[in-house]
Amino acid sequence: MQQSTDSRRRRKVFFFVTIPALIGCILLFFGKHIAFPRILGEIFRLRQNEDGSLSMVTQHWADYPADIMYNFYLWNLTNPYEMIYEGAIPRFQEHGPYAYLGAERKENLTWSSDGKEVHYRNRRNWHFDSAASCATCTEKDLFVVANVAYAAVAYIVAHNDIHPLISTVLDLSILTTGSAPVQTVEAGGLLFNSFQDPLISLQYSSFVKRLEKFMGGTIFGIKLPEYPNPGLLPLYNNTYEPEYRVQTGQKSMDDYTKIITYGGRRYQDWFMGDAAEIQNCNDGGFNKQFLQPNDKLNVFRSYLGRSFEMEFHEESAHDSVPTYVYRINRDEFNTNAEKMIGMRYENIEGVDYAPTWPVCPSDHVYSPNDTRCAQVECTREVNFCDNCCNGSHYGPTVFTPHGFYPLRVFPGRLGRVPFAVFMSPPHMLWAPKEV
Ligand SMILES: *[C@@H]1O[C@H](CO)[C@@H](O)[C@H](O)[C@H]1NC(C)=O
Ligand SMILES: *[C@@H]1O[C@H](CO)[C@@H](O)[C@H](O)[C@H]1NC(C)=O
Ligand SMILES: *[C@@H]1O[C@H](CO)[C@@H](O)[C@H](O)[C@H]1NC(C)=O
Ligand SMILES: *[C@@H]1O[C@H](CO)[C@@H](O)[C@H](O)[C@H]1NC(C)=O
Ligand SMILES: *[C@@H]1O[C@H](CO)[C@@H](O)[C@H](O)[C@H]1NC(C)=O
Repeated sequence: MQQSTDSRRRRKVFFFVTIPALIGCILLFFGKHIAFPRILGEIFRLRQNEDGSLSMVTQHWADYPADIMYNFYLWNLTNPYEMIYEGAIPRFQEHGPYAYLGAERKENLTWSSDGKEVHYRNRRNWHFDSAASCATCTEKDLFVVANVAYAAVAYIVAHNDIHPLISTVLDLSILTTGSAPVQTVEAGGLLFNSFQDPLISLQYSSFVKRLEKFMGGTIFGIKLPEYPNPGLLPLYNNTYEPEYRVQTGQKSMDDYTKIITYGGRRYQDWFMGDAAEIQNCNDGGFNKQFLQPNDKLNVFRSYLGRSFEMEFHEESAHDSVPTYVYRINRDEFNTNAEKMIGMRYENIEGVDYAPTWPVCPSDHVYSPNDTRCAQVECTREVNFCDNCCNGSHYGPTVFTPHGFYPLRVFPGRLGRVPFAVFMSPPHMLWAPKEV
């Protein structure tokens, strides 16, 4: 008797609890892993409605409902004469912030007929925000800065096999235009408004333009850099970036907003190898669904001329919504790191820009003739202090330390920067302390 009630109870439990629970689990599984992602995917993927209007999410993606504050800190050269005439180390005084409120909007959205791709132009504008800037900061403040056109000429001379006659012509153009290694420029000019530079004005004069055309696009065999307007973001206000073509998420939400081409290119072809990869990047706006802590986020930032890989840092919360915080991996600023080598500065001039780095152990003796040395790759940072290797010196070149990467294209443009510019986090945060 006792036994039979027991088994009946068990059967009831089986029918009324276990089976519904199982069905519930199956439904939950279906809901969580199949239906829910589909529904979310349908809501989030980029699309336009039948009438050509944008879905709400797509609208937010195209016209981001928040402005971005840009804080610029400018550096005033305080010892120009000692630097030029006595070769002193330049000294700078930091001044700022010069705050600008920036907005961007994706315009001219064009959808592929299957809805899997969309291309667009990104338009940006900025406004000077004096309330958010330092108390005395105005766009008219004067700064003594290095003359980039002058630097470009020096760079061309260093990076080309130049006939002495041409180097004289270049020297003369510097002399006759009164161009100097340093110049005094307004803050607004340095940032957005551009400024007059005698050397660049000469290059863009009708005489030099005609001469260049006559010589087939060069001046005595040297291609002059395309750099009509000096400045950081010169006359960029209300202009467009190169065209982006991105995945809408229709094909797979894992590829949501990923870049297919930028300016018609499938690679950041101003870098080499892995560092040139753009296919796995988005523009930093939206990410795929169901992010996991082991996911890496790849973000392409046209204004920094490259992509960055971001890693999970910690769990956090925003307005009590649980969030994940991702951060740029330090190695992204280390052009000696294995996967970043394609971003290395060639340093054809062979200048040791950081002579105090790396610090090798005191027993390091450079002895490249050891038989073992054929096996040791001195291009790899782990081997810099191997006795087979000479620190950062490698043949005619010298590798630059971590904490910097070379800017190769102008911010948000495809034109190559005709001189060496290095980017670093604020105050060279991730550079070695010896630097
Ligand atoms: C956007 O589209 C309009 C109209 O089709 C066109 O006039 C304009 O040049 C386009 N802008 C860009 C940046 O392509
Ligand atoms: C950008 O243009 C707008 C007008 O369209 C102007 O109000 C603003 O001051 C400009 N910003 C800069 C940085 O020149
Ligand atoms: C920068 O230095 C120059 C020359 O010393 C000076 O005239 C100018 O006021 C300084 N600019 C700022 C913003 O302090
Ligand atoms: C290595 O050998 C070459 C000749 O084979 C010689 O010129 C050079 O000085 C040697 N280097 C060192 C560091 O001993
Ligand atoms: C080795 O490095 C030192 C600087 O640390 C440099 O002066 C020297 O020329 C380098 N030697 C060779 C053979 O490259």
